[in-house]
Amino acid sequence: MAVKALLHYALEVPDQTAGETFYRSFGLETASGRDDAVHLRPAPLARESVLLYGGPRKRLHHVAFGAPGEEYAATREAVRRAGVREVDPPRGAPEVGFWLRDPDGNLVNVRDEGPLAPPADPPLMLNSPGHVLREGRRGYPPPGMGARPRRLGHVLFFTPDVDRQLDFYTRVLGMKLSDRCQKIIAFLRCTPDHHNLAFLASRGPGFHHGSFEVGSIDEIAMGAKKMQESGWHPAWGPGRHVIGSNFFFYIRDPWGSFAEYFHDLDQIPEGCAWQPQDFPEADALYCWGPPVPEEFGRNVEVEA
Ligand SMILES: [Fe+2]
Repeated sequence: MAVKALLHYALEVPDQTAGETFYRSFGLETASGRDDAVHLRPAPLARESVLLYGGPRKRLHHVAFGAPGEEYAATREAVRRAGVREVDPPRGAPEVGFWLRDPDGNLVNVRDEGPLAPPADPPLMLNSPGHVLREGRRGYPPPGMGARPRRLGHVLFFTPDVDRQLDFYTRVLGMKLSDRCQKIIAFLRCTPDHHNLAFLASRGPGFHHGSFEVGSIDEIAMGAKKMQESGWHPAWGPGRHVIGSNFFFYIRDPWGSFAEYFHDLDQIPEGCAWQPQDFPEADALYCWGPPVPEEFGRNVEVEA
């Protein structure tokens, strides 16, 4: 029994139009939906990744995971056996799958759906010592190129208790721990991606960022440049993380949380030997990149 896909995250926000503008600049497209939310999706996918509901202040509305086929009933049974009560869907949300609350009170929706993969890109034609893949043509990215997120990869939430969340998502929903840094942050997966869900210690729960895969380091940098030219605040990057190994760039959303472009994330296929590591705090966050801005660790939801 286990969830096998991160389907979407839904935020409650004070200005849905500002949120839609932000995520469209980021590279997502507006999708149609049957409820009051603004639905946004990566262009190559026929499924939304971000839902924006109206509400008094920014906070997580819910997060949705897929447990396809037999996994759906098995996950539901595991939830029941763990003594976790199912709850009604939140007002305005589609009545799909079943709903529960995690130990922090976050609403979790589990649906009978599997992961969707975007069509594969052509292989990157990079020249490296001893490996010339591109000859006779220029390699620089086209001026004005923006990012075109292919898919949602992961979300990161704040939590007052990393261990409690880790226990819940591994024991009840069948996710796996990939790596952690003490009691500060833990990274979990339900697909071959190194992480689909992460928890960062804070005074209370909160939404930190959603992260989307793009096709190259150039695409990360060009996308970030374009966001900046459109007036959005570049929060942190470019850089390379230690845990997950991905290249990153974070853009601040209209509410003080973030959206991330990522590329080249560690992959851990089912059955692969992978030992989760507990990284020391000083070496856990990034190998290179600008210093971490103070705002990056701020949970605006507990300060409000
Ligand atoms: Fe991330």
